[in-house]
Amino acid sequence: MSDYNDLHREIRTLLKEKKAIMLAHNYQRDEIQEIADITGDSLGLSQAAAESDADVVLFCGVHFMAESASILCPEKTVLLPRLDAGCPMADMISAEQLRLEKEKRPGVPVVAYVNTTAAVKALSDICFTSANAVRVVDSVDADEVYLIPDKNLSHYVARSAKKKIEWWDGYCPTHERLTPEEVVQAKERYPNALFVCHPECRPDVVELADHICSTSGMYRFAKETEARTIIVGTEMGILYRMKKENPGKRFILPSRSLICPNMKLITLEDVLRVLRNMEGVVKVKEEIRLPARRALDRMLAVPRD
Ligand code: 13P
Ligand code: SF4
Repeated sequence: MSDYNDLHREIRTLLKEKKAIMLAHNYQRDEIQEIADITGDSLGLSQAAAESDADVVLFCGVHFMAESASILCPEKTVLLPRLDAGCPMADMISAEQLRLEKEKRPGVPVVAYVNTTAAVKALSDICFTSANAVRVVDSVDADEVYLIPDKNLSHYVARSAKKKIEWWDGYCPTHERLTPEEVVQAKERYPNALFVCHPECRPDVVELADHICSTSGMYRFAKETEARTIIVGTEMGILYRMKKENPGKRFILPSRSLICPNMKLITLEDVLRVLRNMEGVVKVKEEIRLPARRALDRMLAVPRD
């Protein structure tokens, strides 16, 4: 097998040859983030894909993210190096289950986290991300909304949104594993540290946070805070760029279990293989893509703060 430098060189050459852009989510393995053209959160990456003039988008993330790229840029070939890299939370609600929930509450808008399949987005009124959840929910012209699929994120939104919110009972198995006891222990070990956490964490963990935000928000927080030690409540992959961007600061994971196995599936060898053979194509069918795109476009039209 080629060594690391050969792999790098071969991948970079193929990316150029195929007019491809390589995107990596903030939770990907360090070596994938290192070689990618752009790293970022799920939605930011899909927007970057749509804005780029590449013919091929090599998406290192999980399946729903590659689908979002295909929804936003149907003219490009989207490759996911491991088609088995799914998101257990996105798979916790199917289109059929959502159809049944909609029948129970006629007229109530469905507000879907981007961590959903394209087929589920197609049945939803508007999407949201962890970065704009409250703003999107407040923008919906209704007194009541139905949030899917994350109970923890829904709970977080319900704290500050100005309407009645019901939600589906899904969750991210990785964030759900972090316990308040682990956070309290880390705070005791590092009394001057601040605790930043993702809203996919349990409500009793979120309650302990000094700052709650998306993965992109965490990079900003890490740079701007005066604190020298930061306890980080999200998937461990985020530490790669955080440490690189803030050499004078210390980042502490409060638990060893903050690892998403699906996000760690893609290796450099997989990247090389799919680029060589143009394998792992993710293409959302037009009849799903158009309504799913409407839900994403409505979200993108919500003004930023
Ligand atoms: P963001 O990167 O959009 O915050 O999402 C977190 C996540 O769990 C993605 O799978
Ligand atoms: Fe899904 Fe959680 Fe993994 Fe993100 S970290 S891909 S939400 S299981």
